[in-house]
Amino acid sequence: GRVWTQVSNLNGGLKDQVVLIRGRAHTIRAVGKKMAFLVVREAGFTVQCVVTVAPDLVSPQMVKYANGLSRESVIDVEGVVSVPDVAIKGATQQVEIQVRKLHCVSKAVPTLPINIEDAARSEVEIEKALQAGEQLVRVNQDTRLNYRVLDLRTPANQGIFRVQYQVENIFRKFLKRQGFIGIHSPKIIPGSSEGGAAVFRLDYKGTPACLAQSPQLYKQMAISGGFNRVFEVGAVYRAEDSNTHRHLCEFIGLDVEMEIKEHYSEVMDIVGSLFVKMFDHLNENCRNELQAIGRQYPFEPLKYLRDTLRLTFEEGVQMLKEAGVEIDPFGDLNTESERRLGQLVLEKYNTEFYILHRYPLAVRPFYTMPCFDNPAYSNSFDVFIRGEEIISGAQRIHIPEILAQRAEECGINVQTISSYIDSFRYGIPPHGGFGVGLERVVMLFCALNNIRKSSLFPRDPQRLNP
Ligand code: 4AD
Repeated sequence: GRVWTQVSNLNGGLKDQVVLIRGRAHTIRAVGKKMAFLVVREAGFTVQCVVTVAPDLVSPQMVKYANGLSRESVIDVEGVVSVPDVAIKGATQQVEIQVRKLHCVSKAVPTLPINIEDAARSEVEIEKALQAGEQLVRVNQDTRLNYRVLDLRTPANQGIFRVQYQVENIFRKFLKRQGFIGIHSPKIIPGSSEGGAAVFRLDYKGTPACLAQSPQLYKQMAISGGFNRVFEVGAVYRAEDSNTHRHLCEFIGLDVEMEIKEHYSEVMDIVGSLFVKMFDHLNENCRNELQAIGRQYPFEPLKYLRDTLRLTFEEGVQMLKEAGVEIDPFGDLNTESERRLGQLVLEKYNTEFYILHRYPLAVRPFYTMPCFDNPAYSNSFDVFIRGEEIISGAQRIHIPEILAQRAEECGINVQTISSYIDSFRYGIPPHGGFGVGLERVVMLFCALNNIRKSSLFPRDPQRLNP
């Protein structure tokens, strides 16, 4: 086969060489009948291709063909790399291709519902353009999602999902090195696993069932099954009617469960080192992606400490109190107080990533282990990025009698989870773990304002399509 070059790899070093690329017709500009400028885009990178009539090389028909292409059509271009003296505006690569051959592989319809150039502009650019009297359409979130395959073609979106893939990869790699194995728990299960009514119900051959709200019960049973350190990357389903910037009805959960030798801080140790590693990796290895995201959605790099900060819930409440925020010391934090505490932590400790632990037992799920020294609190934690939750975790109750009692106290029908509770009667070490929302990590690391931006085809209470 022929040698193909990626647009992102085109550079001055290839000067005078013949290259072959495939991309999309990003823009097409005719200059009379003898010349056409095509900007070709591949994975968010663009290069200017010049089609000029030249005897024996480029016919007037070819220029006409180029000018007749519709935007976003997939095209193959063969040509010679040249390096112009002046900077090239409107393309990421600072070389040009003098086109010799041009072939349309797949034609796009002539009128697109979204203009990719418009969809790729930042708020600041839009404001500027509007003030300059330019005609442009602000592409709103719903339109973007309706035509998601077009929206995904912007450089920022190309960056977001590459970053997301790296987050998943680091998660797997790091845990593998720490002796964890990956598992897959069932997604069709008999009942609720997090308590509450927010489950998608379905009929399982005549038996009522539901989509798993989390791998919680099964990752714990995997511990009972003798796998002492497990993780899972998988879909999680939540049916609650949360129409917010950070809730989806289906998201990707990164779950961890592990044996605890002495103290639940062992679980927080994993969280701390995993995420410092992850942030370092993203900053070092995803520069282009982060830049592409930042060009459309400007953000400051995340501030985090080498040694992840841990505060107790009591300390957090105290900080809020001192700042004049009224807080129920045994209630949960609402979104607003979480944000406020995030600001206070940033001011005091210079970090936007921290762990808050020893939550009041009353606000945690039934399976959470109470503190040994004070059962009003629990061996549990939440983890925050820029004042918003990305993780919750805890030590679990591994004593079946207490577990059954706590389930009952929390209003759970113990019958529906009897196989889970019974699995602890055959011997199980103390254990704990945590669950991470993948879309939230990406959203908050890049300070995006909506979780739909970091979900490929988001599912929310209003959206099942596309
Ligand atoms: O806080 P959650 O519900 O905790 C659990 O599912 C436990 N089983 C975890 C554990 O091991 N103890 O969910 C964990 C994380 C949250 O911190 C959040 O990042 C994300 O999952 N999450 C959501 N992400 C998007 N949309 C939603 N509706 C989410 N609900 C939770």
